[in-house]
Amino acid sequence: MTPRFKNKVVLITGTGGGMGREAALRFAAEGARVVGCDVKVDGNRKTVEMVRARGGDIHTMEPVDLGDPEKARAWVEEAAAIHGGIDILYNNASAARFAPIESFAPEDWQFTMRNEVNLVFYVTRYAWTHLARKGGVILNTGSVAGIAGSGPGGAAHAAAKGAIIAFTKQLAQEGAPHNIRAVTISPGFIETPGTQDIAQMPEVRDALIARNMIKRIGSAADVVGVALFMASDEASFITGANIVVDGGRVSW
Ligand SMILES: NC(=O)c1ccc[n+]([C@@H]2O[C@H](COP(=O)([O-])OP(=O)(O)OC[C@H]3O[C@@H](n4cnc5c(N)ncnc54)[C@H](O)[C@@H]3O)[C@@H](O)[C@H]2O)c1
Repeated sequence: MTPRFKNKVVLITGTGGGMGREAALRFAAEGARVVGCDVKVDGNRKTVEMVRARGGDIHTMEPVDLGDPEKARAWVEEAAAIHGGIDILYNNASAARFAPIESFAPEDWQFTMRNEVNLVFYVTRYAWTHLARKGGVILNTGSVAGIAGSGPGGAAHAAAKGAIIAFTKQLAQEGAPHNIRAVTISPGFIETPGTQDIAQMPEVRDALIARNMIKRIGSAADVVGVALFMASDEASFITGANIVVDGGRVSW
């Protein structure tokens, strides 16, 4: 069977760990030419080693701070120049700050918007003309926080992820005439380096599991498996949707 993404050029942001690393490994395993980036140098180089050790094709830049529009543009243009185009863009990278609303500092709000919303706009903006040339797929990473709120301290994160869900619908609308599909994937709580500290506190872990219909914590593989399907031709009639991968948490 031909691999699903043979020779497809797949840009993935935040490949230095977590779901971004899992995505790099899985897309490469299915034949993609992966282009990654991260602000984290060591984590990203580790991903490169892991992908290549399994025979995958990956090119990365690091450090790249995608919250800087010129850095985002440079990464996208390098990817397109190396491979002659872009087929799939997976906006995965983000960073947020948390604090109760009464003590939320404006700079923490701005940090969260910069690193959860602005970077998605920049990368998408610069990738758009490449994707529009022959059609493509944009996967954006939302969160259940963007649907149901994020719990105490999560005001900026919830607002940011709500923005991503709305932005994706707009991309779907503007992309359809160019054969571009855009889909949000909204994870529930997933154990990754970004959440490990919380996930390993036994009482918190139990409470998180109790809120899910499926009684376990989600993994990066749970989310990335859905991302691969959404990026594939099997999902060719899906656009604008927000696909929730949360063990049932927001449905009860
Ligand atoms: N883990 C969860 O429970 C969960 C739940 C819902 C949504 N999400 C979303 O899933 C995505 C991946 O989450 P994760 O848990 O794997 O996160 P993570 O923190 O483990 O990895 C995110 C990566 O993005 C990189 N990054 C952050 N800001 C960047 C920037 N400005 N430029 C370049 N790289 C940058 C980080 O360095 C990091 O390697 C994020 O968008 C996150 O908001 C995660």
